[in-house]
Amino acid sequence: MANFHNIAVLGGTGQIGGPIVKALIDAGFNVTVVTRGLGSNPKEINGAIFVTSDYTYESLVKIFTGQEAVVSAVAAGPPIAAQKVMVDAAIQAGVRRFIPSEYGSSSIDPPLEDFKKLMAPKTELIGYLREKCRLYPTFSWTCLSGGALLDVGIHSGTWGFSVSERTATIFDTGEARFDSTTIPAMARSVVSVLLRPADSANKYLLIRSFIVSQSEILTALEDITQSKWSVSYVNAESLRQEGWRLLADNNPKQGIESIIRGALFQGQKNISVSQDALANTQLGLQTTNLRHYLESIVEN
Ligand SMILES: NC(=O)c1ccc[n+]([C@@H]2O[C@H](COP(=O)([O-])OP(=O)(O)OC[C@H]3O[C@@H](n4cnc5c(N)ncnc54)[C@H](OP(=O)(O)O)[C@@H]3O)[C@@H](O)[C@H]2O)c1
Repeated sequence: MANFHNIAVLGGTGQIGGPIVKALIDAGFNVTVVTRGLGSNPKEINGAIFVTSDYTYESLVKIFTGQEAVVSAVAAGPPIAAQKVMVDAAIQAGVRRFIPSEYGSSSIDPPLEDFKKLMAPKTELIGYLREKCRLYPTFSWTCLSGGALLDVGIHSGTWGFSVSERTATIFDTGEARFDSTTIPAMARSVVSVLLRPADSANKYLLIRSFIVSQSEILTALEDITQSKWSVSYVNAESLRQEGWRLLADNNPKQGIESIIRGALFQGQKNISVSQDALANTQLGLQTTNLRHYLESIVEN
């Protein structure tokens, strides 16, 4: 499989897409960021070309022509299903690799019943990609799954921690342990896939930086900041149920966030894939030390 040079990124303005765009530019790729709202003329920003699209088939075919790979990092919720049009447009434009917006827990083998329902549009898209690859053998896909993204959880407060206020919200006991990946590791994985596309054609790759619990993070944060944090407790099951209510009320962002927190942090379970299933070595990921990584988050 020939090397890729030109990469289009959808959702490249987002919290995960932004770091992926930066990592691709740093690795020497020509990057085109496809965004919904920038005005009619393409602009160059920080080494990437930004072009506007209304996400219609015609608009995307035009933008994707000349691109070898498309990386999607569009938001959770309705944009996930909208990726089918992106896949169709990519095939029509002669794109050879599509990386869909995944990056979380496995959507082909969801570890929890709630996740299975929540991830149904992602799972369906993979079926769609598989079918298209059978029909168009020069087209291929790769998915990257990393469990819960540590940086997103800590920066946005989703995991219950506020570094500036030294407060923590612990769900149930805080002892549930789960797979977690840093955003830099996820962005590096996208780069590795596109540098060596043959190794990852039509594969669902699992990566992980840590297996961790809220309690372990709190202990490390208290130690790093040399202070006792103010801790409050929330019932995870109530949060999970509230999440499904919010989703039914057409509030996908808060709904999805509450369901994930309520389900993932509930009880004392251990949600992690086996070490043997990981693609960390294949993708050249180095081991990350949790304490060192949290130190860098606290410093920034
Ligand atoms: N594992 C985890 O812990 C974790 C955490 C967060 C997210 N994720 C996953 O990572 C992926 C990206 O999520 P993210 O949080 O980075 O997304 P985000 O920042 O909320 O949004 C990414 C981009 O999607 C584009 N977009 C297209 N249609 C949209 C619409 N209808 N509403 C809102 N934005 C829209 C926007 O780009 P333009 O405005 O430029 O078009 C936006 O900047 C998703 O698959 C999500 O499930 C995983």
